[in-house]
Amino acid sequence: MRSVVPDYLTEVLGDVEPDTSGEPADYIPELAAADPDRLGAVFATVDGMVYGAGDIDTEFTIQSISKPFTYALALADHGFDPVLAKVGVEPSGEAFNQISLESDTGRPYNPMINAGAITAHSLAGSAELTPPERVQRVVDGLSAFAGRPLTMDETVCASEMEHAHRNLAIAHMLRSHDILTEDPRAVVDGYIRQCSVLVTTRDLAVMAATLANRGINPLSEERVIPEPVVRQVLSVMSTCGMYDAAGDWATQVGIPAKSGVAGGLIGALPGQIGIATFSPRLDRHGNSVRGVSLFERFSADMGLHVM
Ligand code: DON
Repeated sequence: MRSVVPDYLTEVLGDVEPDTSGEPADYIPELAAADPDRLGAVFATVDGMVYGAGDIDTEFTIQSISKPFTYALALADHGFDPVLAKVGVEPSGEAFNQISLESDTGRPYNPMINAGAITAHSLAGSAELTPPERVQRVVDGLSAFAGRPLTMDETVCASEMEHAHRNLAIAHMLRSHDILTEDPRAVVDGYIRQCSVLVTTRDLAVMAATLANRGINPLSEERVIPEPVVRQVLSVMSTCGMYDAAGDWATQVGIPAKSGVAGGLIGALPGQIGIATFSPRLDRHGNSVRGVSLFERFSADMGLHVM
């Protein structure tokens, strides 16, 4: 098993490597400058084995892959009802940065799009926290999922703040509906800090394996979130994690998943495995091109489709 799995991963990485379609995210210069050829994949099992191949220890920003984990922290810190009152669980069918609020309540459709994730960030930690304390709660929570202390890319963070007009517009809409009750600028600042947390492909696989292992990190053995929260998070990842490509993903891969614009992609199979891939070139939905191909291969080769 020890060499069989890395050999398999190396073979599959070699098969997808020639595909240079798609482009790294270009909305800020720091992401546009990413080495587009980076490629890595890691399997982390619920019994604590980690297997990888390729660029598995290169750090990149977590971006939207922070969303399911922050949603989990909000649910763990407040319980279900206060969170569900402010963020729905329905796919929006729209791009991740659309405003996508329910017309009557102003509630974002789900926590995987930016509107829902900005709201979920505001619900992490107790209501009394200051904005910096809330960021700390989120970074500590993400670190517990990864099983090591994570840091932030300050350059990406500062650059993203300068280009945050869309997220600020979304946050002001949320404030006008009283979905956000704090200063929208402070919440967006915190959300962007959350997106700027640095992870490796190995970290992401362990984070996904913590979801697969019903909330217990399989390496540190720490319980990070309660089991009912895991079910909620995996369900929303299944229906909304790949944005407006969620239907294609469900039929072709069939694993609860989440993508990020820096090129990361995670999948979690309950009771079995966390999978992470890294390749910065994105498709038109904002999902990693080679990441999607790798997951299609893993799902087909190992019969991972849950349906
Ligand atoms: O807020 C944003 O738009 C980015 N910081 C994160 C978006 C993202 O990762 C979308 N995923 N594919």
